[in-house]
Amino acid sequence: MIELQDVSYRYQSTPMQDTCALDHITCHLDMGRCYCLQGPNGCGKSTLFRILNGLSFPTSGHYIFNGMEITEKSMRNPDFSKNFHKQVGFVFQHSEIQLFCKTVEEEIAFGLQQLRLPDSEIEARVERYIQLLHLENIRQRAPFNLSGGEQKRCALAAVLAMDPKVLILDEPISGLDEEGQEWVTSFIRDLKSPDRMIIIATHQSSFAEKVADMHLQMTKEHRMTFSG
Ligand SMILES: Nc1ncnc2c1ncn2[C@@H]1O[C@H](COP(=O)(O)OP(=O)(O)OP(=O)(O)O)[C@@H](O)[C@H]1O
Ligand SMILES: [Mg+2]
Repeated sequence: MIELQDVSYRYQSTPMQDTCALDHITCHLDMGRCYCLQGPNGCGKSTLFRILNGLSFPTSGHYIFNGMEITEKSMRNPDFSKNFHKQVGFVFQHSEIQLFCKTVEEEIAFGLQQLRLPDSEIEARVERYIQLLHLENIRQRAPFNLSGGEQKRCALAAVLAMDPKVLILDEPISGLDEEGQEWVTSFIRDLKSPDRMIIIATHQSSFAEKVADMHLQMTKEHRMTFSG
């Protein structure tokens, strides 16, 4: 389903200097599995996730999604990129940067409107994900002013409402209190299904143990190793 073939990524920090973030990563990820990606600060986890979500593109190597190569050129085609983004949902490490609507309700509806779903379906999904993520009391509030944990739940609701086949979560429990961490852990376990792939970056090994079917390890040299 997802294949990275010899993917490297370098940030051009200045015209004279670039920074290696990913160094020749090759991996194959299957549906129905929950992968946890761990590794030290700066090893390239968020960079990898930006590539998986079509926000950045490999400096060299190939990213194949469902048999199609994801490139800057292919993503410039609106139908292609819309179809891709329908299938892949991404909750950012700092989820506040993906929240920009006036209310939590509007935030959840926004992506669904982009998918051009009928109004009745949008309303039904907004309602369902407000209940599921326990956002009832804050549904009219501005996402910008919510607490970190509330923002995470809001971002998660907005992404899940689009029912993505591939769900990419960058540090979903960082900044959450103990109760919030336990809640997200059991929520993710319930999300696992044969027709969904979940990929999570985390620094918490105990959380990874609870949710992962497969562990991916990034090294400080920006390379990837695997274990069952
Ligand atoms: N926009 C950028 N411009 C230049 N260098 C960057 C940029 N974003 C990240 N980097 C560099 O790329 C490398 C990988 O960063 P990345 O954010 O992917 O790491 P990470 O594994 O997600 O770290 P963390 O655990 O702290 O979230 C780091 O050396 C970082 O400094
Ligand atoms: Mg990161």
